[in-house]
Formats: sequence, C-alpha cells, structure tokens
Amino acid sequence: MIYIVIGTRPEIIKMSPIIQLCDRKHIAYKVVHTNQHYSYELDEIFFKDLDLPTPDYNLKVGSGSHGKQMAKIIEKTEKIFLSGKPDIVLVEGDTNTVFGAAFSASRLQIPVGHVEAGLRSGDMTMPEEVNRILTDHISSLLFAPTEISKNNLLREGISKNIYVVGNSIVDATYRNILIAEKKSKILEEFDFDKHNYILLTAHRAENVDNPQRLLNIVKSIELISQKLDTPMLYPIHPRTVKRLKEFGYYSRLMSISKLVITKPLGYLDFLVLEKNALVVITDSGGVQEESCILQVPCVTIRDNTERPETLNVGANMLAGTEPKKVLEAVQTSVNKKRDWTNPFGDGKTSKRILDIIISRD
Ligand code: UD1
Ligand code: UDP
Repeated sequence: MIYIVIGTRPEIIKMSPIIQLCDRKHIAYKVVHTNQHYSYELDEIFFKDLDLPTPDYNLKVGSGSHGKQMAKIIEKTEKIFLSGKPDIVLVEGDTNTVFGAAFSASRLQIPVGHVEAGLRSGDMTMPEEVNRILTDHISSLLFAPTEISKNNLLREGISKNIYVVGNSIVDATYRNILIAEKKSKILEEFDFDKHNYILLTAHRAENVDNPQRLLNIVKSIELISQKLDTPMLYPIHPRTVKRLKEFGYYSRLMSISKLVITKPLGYLDFLVLEKNALVVITDSGGVQEESCILQVPCVTIRDNTERPETLNVGANMLAGTEPKKVLEAVQTSVNKKRDWTNPFGDGKTSKRILDIIISRD
C-alpha cells in the first residue's frame, strides 16, 4: 500500500502520472492531500484538468506561518499513517507538505520515497532548500531526476538506494500537452499569436516577500514593455497579489502597457501558453523544467537554481531581478536556437519509480 502525499499545485501535477499508473497497474494506493493549496485555481482545477480521483484523505491544513502549517501537517499525517499503516509514503519535491509528511512517516518507521530527490540550490535561506535536504536525509528511496542530483546526494554522504529515474514532470508534460492542444482555447481567448508573447510567473518567497526584489520584478516588466513590442501575460499566484498590495506596487503593475494580468490558470491552458511563448520568465521550479522540455527559452529571475541541467543545455538563463539584466537575458533568449535536448528523461519516470517500489516488496 503506497500513500501518495500531495499538497500544492506542483505536487498535484508531478504526482499525477504516478497516481494514474497505479490505477492502470492495479497497485494499491491512497492519496493524502494536505490541502496546503486550497484555492480553486491552485487546487481543484488540477484534479479536473488531470482527471484525478478525489483524494482519500483531505487534511485541510491550509495556509499559516511555517511553524503552524508544518505542525498541522505533521500532526495530521501522523494520524493517517498510524491508522492506515502504509508500506511506503511517497512525497514529491520540496514544500512544507513534503518535509512534514516525510518526518511523520520516518518517526513511525515507515519508509519514505522522495520523488525529485537531490536537487540543491545551495541557498539555505530558501525554505525549499531546507525541506529538500531534510527530506532526502530521512528517505529510504531517493528518486533523483538526473546524475547531477544523484551526485548532490553522494556529496552529502547519502550512498544507498539512489535511483536516477528522470523527472515525472516529463511524463505529465508529454501526456498532457497533446490533450491541452486539443482542448484549450486559451490563445484565442487572449488573442495571442504563437511565438509572439511572453509568459511570466513569479511567486517564490525569496522574490515576492522581499520588497526590493519584488519592486525590481515590477520594474523589469516595465522595462521589457518599453523595449519590446511583445504582449506579456502574468497569471499571478495569490501570495504575490498579497505582497504587491502590502508593499503598494499593485496599481503600478496593473498600469503597465501590453501586460495582461490574470488569476492562476489551469494546467492545460498554462501548458499551451508555455509551448507557444516567445520566452518564459519565471522563478518557478516546475516552469523552468517545462519550458526546457517544451523547447521554449526561459529566463529565471533568481540568483541560483536547483535545476542547473536547464542552464547546461542552454535552455535557461539566470538573470536575478535587476531590470537591465532581465531585459538583456530576454533579448538574448528571443534569438536562441531551440535545439537543446531535454535533460529530465524520456517520460517513463513514473513507471521506473513504481517498478522499483514494487520490486522491493
Ligand atoms: C508553496 C511552496 C513553494 C512552491 C509553491 C507552489 C512551501 C514552503 N512553499 O509556496 O515551494 O513553489 O507552494 O505554488 O511549501 N494562498 C492562497 N490560496 C492557496 C494557497 C495559498 O490564497 O490555495 C496564499 C495565502 O495567502 C498563503 C500564501 O498564498 O499565505 C502562501 O501559501 P503557502 O502554501 O504558504 O506557500 P506558497 O507561496 O504557495
Ligand atoms: N502552473 C499552472 N498555472 C499557472 C502557473 C503554473 O498550471 O498559472 C503549473 C505549471 O505548469 C507547473 C506548476 O504549475 O507545472 C509549477 O508550480 P509553481 O510554479 O506553483 O511551483 P514550483 O514549481 O515553483 O514549486
């Protein structure tokens, strides 16, 4: 019995191929949703778009300070794991849900499988980096996407049960882009021509909780709008809306010409927008990966990335948040040849993960 834990938008997306394969192969599993994300646009829409079953458990953890959120995740997952006695708990990524659930399982001596193990940004001020490191060190099975992530684990003294399996985001992207291209009408809705608009996302705490960095992001968008004759689309995460309003930047952002602001979009619409974008600008982990997989140049508005594979193949550029640097990176990216090879695997990651779990029984 595998307990598959999810909590946020990227976890729902990256676990979806594993959940669907469990169904097809009749592997016993239950989905535990912490509900760290709960707004329709960050949660339910993905269950609809991905045709996922309703979770077996919904822990209704919601938002809160790290301490409050983590405490609820630990307390509530402990209860579920104690009563259900799963053979393994599977977590994916680096959120509070991931470490909270891994911690509960590990204290109950239930093996933890960490999907997307071994990613490192080298920046311990990021909550995600702390969550990744702690989770890796208490996991029994480490599903590393690439040799780079495997080597990060080896360097930290983790030597057993590391499997390089690719990233399940490739499985999700390959499968869903075909569905998305048939179903989504988003390009027509926004009246965008293919390869003639920029897609932007920014929600990371290190960017949007920092008034100077968030202001720089707003200024970068202004500068791009002045220098390029290209419309931009920004589906905004609620954390960012909250901070923009708190720091007094919201109306400045809203008044930028050629910029279209929307609420967060569903997965199928977002995939179509990514695939057909001229350039993607982001601080998201998943969006760096997807743009690389979909052969779309990416500019990452961060000072580091735990996805160096995207830089190594030439798909991605690290620009920080200084407006001039962001503009330069966008201008370079516009002319980039889209001929790199996706470094995150062949789309069979979910099968490899389940084969490894089952062969251990
Ligand atoms: C979390 C993850 C981050 C991941 C992101 C994916 C942690 C520490 N961070 O960040 O690594 O990249 O998810 O999107 O786990 N909110 C809503 N509705 C929701 C959820 C959140 O309005 O459904 C708002 C609330 O004001 C909340 C804020 O967003 O306080 C932040 O939510 P939280 O789950 O703490 O972190 P994310 O920024 O979403
Ligand atoms: N995504 C989406 N709609 C949006 C923005 C992002 O469906 O409006 C998807 C995107 O396709 C990717 C995932 O959300 O798979 C990335 O999640 P996010 O950026 O929230 O988190 P991160 O990957 O940074 O942890």
